Amino acid sequence: MPQKETLLVINHISKAFGAVQALKSVSFELYRGEIVALVGDNGAGKSTLVKIISGLYPATSGELIFKGAPVAFRNPADALAMGIETVYQHLALIEQLDVADNVYLGRETTRWGAIGRWLRAQQQMTMLIISHNMQDVYRSADRVVVMRQGKHVATLNKGETTTQEIVAYMTGAKEPHIAAE
Ligand SMILES: Nc1ncnc2c1ncn2[C@@H]1O[C@H](COP(=O)(O)OP(=O)(O)O)[C@@H](O)[C@H]1O
Ligand SMILES: [Mg+2]
Repeated sequence: MPQKETLLVINHISKAFGAVQALKSVSFELYRGEIVALVGDNGAGKSTLVKIISGLYPATSGELIFKGAPVAFRNPADALAMGIETVYQHLALIEQLDVADNVYLGRETTRWGAIGRWLRAQQQMTMLIISHNMQDVYRSADRVVVMRQGKHVATLNKGETTTQEIVAYMTGAKEPHIAAE
């Protein structure tokens, strides 16, 4: 990306469900127009983080800063009103594309990659995606945010990492490495 414009800052977000600490001071940024893959084993906290960003859950502590200002979403409609939309099945998104785009998609082997490139070309949309298919993630994302046991353990630029390294952070084989934030 030539210039990075910060769209969303996830700033020390924690979330507890009773005694379960689902998110432990998670911090990272999303830049306008980029695709970030959020990966991690089951229980890493991916869904909880997405639910907070989309207004379904309040954080226990920490803040979301959207377009430079702190936001407090009371519900998904609040997030939607600010342009943050959550799509739980990528087929829902494919249905919104026109015939030509679907033909384009048909030629692609990676749906998320195709959707991401299409959205990026059309609308400069920023995407945070969760996929359990490491190949999808690796092909479509600009950056990969790895979570493990409620913590953000690595942010990797696609061009500088490998699926093996991503998996090593997911499993804990590789120690957390977070740039200053
Ligand atoms: N509504 C909930 N109530 C209690 N515990 C929850 C709830 N949602 C998630 N958790 C717990 O929080 C942790 C993170 O879960 P989750 O965000 O679903 O992880 P992931 O999506 O990465 O698999 C897990 O230990 C899970 O059991
Ligand atoms: Mg989940």
